[in-house]
Amino acid sequence: MSQSLATVAYLGAAILFILSLGGLSNPETSRRGNLFGMIGMALAVLATLFGPRVSPAGIPWIIAALVVGGSIGLYAARVVKMTQMPELVALMHSLVGLAACLVGFASYVDTSIQLTGAEKVIHEVEIYVGILIGAVTFSGSLIAFGKLNGKIGGKPLLLPARHWLNLAGLLVVIWFGREFIHAPTVAEGMTPLIVMTVIALLFGIHMVMAIGGADMPVVVSMLNSYSGWAAAATGFMLSNDLLIVTGALVGSSGAILSYIMCNAMNRNFISVIAGGFGSGAPSKSAASGDAAQPQGEVVPVSAVETAEMLRDAKSVIIVPGYGMAVAQAQHTVYEITKTLRDKGVKVRFGIHPVAGRMPGHMNVLLAEAKVPYDIVMEMDEINEDFPDTDIAMVIGANDIVNPAAQDDPGSPIAGMPVLEVWKAKTSIVMKRSMASGYAGVDNPLFYKENNRMLFGDAKKMLDEVLVALKA
Ligand code: TAP
Repeated sequence: MSQSLATVAYLGAAILFILSLGGLSNPETSRRGNLFGMIGMALAVLATLFGPRVSPAGIPWIIAALVVGGSIGLYAARVVKMTQMPELVALMHSLVGLAACLVGFASYVDTSIQLTGAEKVIHEVEIYVGILIGAVTFSGSLIAFGKLNGKIGGKPLLLPARHWLNLAGLLVVIWFGREFIHAPTVAEGMTPLIVMTVIALLFGIHMVMAIGGADMPVVVSMLNSYSGWAAAATGFMLSNDLLIVTGALVGSSGAILSYIMCNAMNRNFISVIAGGFGSGAPSKSAASGDAAQPQGEVVPVSAVETAEMLRDAKSVIIVPGYGMAVAQAQHTVYEITKTLRDKGVKVRFGIHPVAGRMPGHMNVLLAEAKVPYDIVMEMDEINEDFPDTDIAMVIGANDIVNPAAQDDPGSPIAGMPVLEVWKAKTSIVMKRSMASGYAGVDNPLFYKENNRMLFGDAKKMLDEVLVALKA
């Protein structure tokens, strides 16, 4: 393939990636968006493989690597459970970071790249910055993976003088950057490069360890953004325009998502990154020792009683959370919605921006179950409607409906906007026990007078509710 044909193919792929991102911004067009992305990626891989920069002798090696990597990816995609998706995404981000590091070291020791003067300095800056971003992304994503699958606790690790440690790390990295650029030989440049890589790896670990459980959504989207910048840096190192464009697209859309997440959680981006939110600082009431436990009584109900309340209701808002994903209850939720709507009940869904464990988690599940998009509302669209609603049915959600976010300034989730389900005439919370949610915070909602608890696995209980509703 000639250089000009490869460039045209790259251009086509870049346009398809942009169309893909546009499509993914709306559930109705997301399948098409995915398709554009897949075609764009296939085009990009083919144009690279048969492009002028790959020698024919290298093609079998690349195809072998594609087969191995593709098989692992295919296997992982088939066996991964929906609830493990966020961990898988974090793991994939870490691989992008690792790739940037490896490409960086490889291009530094590559003797076929003979540059002098300004070109050499620019190339070395690309290598240094690329490895820096790659290493932070790699170790940070691995810690995020551990936090998301519960292997590492959600509590933030707050080292004494952590901001000073970070600042000192930054200064050392800048100092060694200077040493690296001025190193006369590759062997002498290797020491500063390795020292910087170790510091960047430690920084990635420290940064994510310092972030509290409730702020993990921001970290997930931020690492998504970092992985994009790492890919763009790899593109600079390899002088691959498409990789630069694609990396920048991922990096900037991830940054926009982080901003949206911060707004949704009422957090300041810099403060989240600096860490310490969600540290579980004692609340006022806990500190004074008078009301560490929420006040009131927990009133359990049965599936049959729940069905009766739903049947008598005129309007119902369903609030799904992570437990719905765990129980895979979305199809039964759809059946219940359909049955209630057939009986003339107004049913809508209230979706919190950080419900579940990844952006759009609930929307994906509800779309999979064929719940109509027009009754799935975002938090801001529906929060005012709870006082005029008969039943708010909370399915496996906890943090996102916790009134402590509004009432307890000392709570780790203080200030995070929540779905105000307690303002409905009756709220019914469906979960297995009184256990807390991801942020590890008690939920006073469960003790409110107008709240009922339907204990059990969400799928099992909803199946029973459906049977009772249809009886
Ligand atoms: P959580 O606060 O984690 O609450 C989920 C609840 O579901 C748990 O309290 C659990 O209680 C219940 N549950 C689990 N399995 C269940 C099952 N099989 N049947 C019924 N209930 C079940 O979830 P949420 O309300 O969706 O809030 C999301 C949290 O995750 C927030 O703190 C958010 O910051 C964090 N987070 C979000 C993201 C993104 S991007 N969305 C990423 C990382 C972290 P039981 O054990 O008693 O059943």
